Amino acid sequence: AEKSVDNLRAPIICVLGHVDTGKTKMLDTIRRTNVQDGEAGGITQQIGATQVPRDAIVERCKQVREFRAADVKVPGFLIIDTPGHESFANLRSRGSSLCDFAILVVDLMHGLEQQTLESIKLLVKRHTPFVVALNKIDRLHMYESSPRKDVYVHLGTQANNVKLEFKKRYEEVVVQFAEQGLNVCLSNDKKKMADPDYIPMVPTSAYCGDGIGNLMAFIAEMAQSKYSDRLAFIEELDATVMEVKAIPGLGTTIDVILVNGRLKNNDIIVLSGIDGPIVSQIRDLKMPEPLRELRVKSEYRSFKEIQGAQGVKVLAKGMEKALAGLPLYVVNQADEIDLLQAECEAALSKALTSIKKKPEGVYVQASTLGSLEALLEFLKTQKIPYANVNIGPAQLAADREGVRIFQADIIYHLEDDFLKYREELRQ
Ligand code: GTP
Ligand code: MG
Ligand code: NA
Repeated sequence: AEKSVDNLRAPIICVLGHVDTGKTKMLDTIRRTNVQDGEAGGITQQIGATQVPRDAIVERCKQVREFRAADVKVPGFLIIDTPGHESFANLRSRGSSLCDFAILVVDLMHGLEQQTLESIKLLVKRHTPFVVALNKIDRLHMYESSPRKDVYVHLGTQANNVKLEFKKRYEEVVVQFAEQGLNVCLSNDKKKMADPDYIPMVPTSAYCGDGIGNLMAFIAEMAQSKYSDRLAFIEELDATVMEVKAIPGLGTTIDVILVNGRLKNNDIIVLSGIDGPIVSQIRDLKMPEPLRELRVKSEYRSFKEIQGAQGVKVLAKGMEKALAGLPLYVVNQADEIDLLQAECEAALSKALTSIKKKPEGVYVQASTLGSLEALLEFLKTQKIPYANVNIGPAQLAADREGVRIFQADIIYHLEDDFLKYREELRQ
């Protein structure tokens, strides 16, 4: 395929980290939105995607010392928000498998927590370059916020006790990373940053906005100076179904991360489904406005053609049975359909057989691959064995067998209800 460094696509940046470290808040600050406040229980339970256009990056980076905002060459960022709750390991894995870079958010007050460690393992395994956001610096006692300044310049003007507390906490984090076999340093430490073994950390306050410019400038600089080859746009399609969602008025739609290539209205698509591969035709392609979240019901705009990298809502018939987490193909020649269907079947059977089952245990049925994986993760933590798994509408099967189904908006409540029920059975 034709490659050109003059035609960079937006890097895909995944935000990972332990629950409540401030991943969604950080995106809210970048977007100037309020998604986090609207989340049930204040926790993220889906993957999100936001397009941050170049203008918005330039605007944030202007405050960064020794960075020429005008030199931003990437057309934007495509930022993927993931849940930090332990049950959503599958979504973190899916998000991180799609991305070029990651932001690992660490709560400066808590250091490295369980899902931070899990995220580090994912990133190291996949060799994904990442930057650590040392978040919640505004929690330092007596810290005074100034979101329009370079964060390092600003930290230098804080009262002495603030500087000392920052140094103490940041050094604790350095030790915790060292325990994981990783070297980290502040992103303005030129000497250490010259050593490719060092992972950069940027102090931030997702809540106040401090350091967000430094973080974005660092990623833009790294993307275009070190990874322009990887980010050269290519025409060969690379697209993954991220979520399957029923939207009132639109029917069941799929959210797709389009990395490279294009999707066009009327394209014939092939993707994995509950009852086997689905062949359908794109009826409409939609995206939210720039700086709006794909997972939030908002006013979408229609497009005839979309070029990667973008998060795209695809409207097509038969998406009720689509499976998330697997690739989407476009048929270029009629005789390709069989081959693409076979690819879809192979991808799904690989996903299902990778699930390790026990000879005896419960039977798990879920409506999507994502929810199946989340449920299995939960069962593992409860040491409940499962003997078989399946994907399909669970309600029908349950009604037939007279099985009770637990429902809840957030997974914590589901867990509580189930444990209560189990206690009742034991009495
Ligand atoms: P999950 O998606 O559920 O894993 O959480 P998250 O990492 O997206 O964290 P979220 O954005 O939901 O923030 C969790 C809580 O921390 C919220 O109450 C935020 O307001 C708060 N918070 C996030 N960032 C900051 C920060 O920089 N400073 C302070 N003081 N609070 C913050
Ligand atoms: Mg969140
Ligand atoms: Na949260």
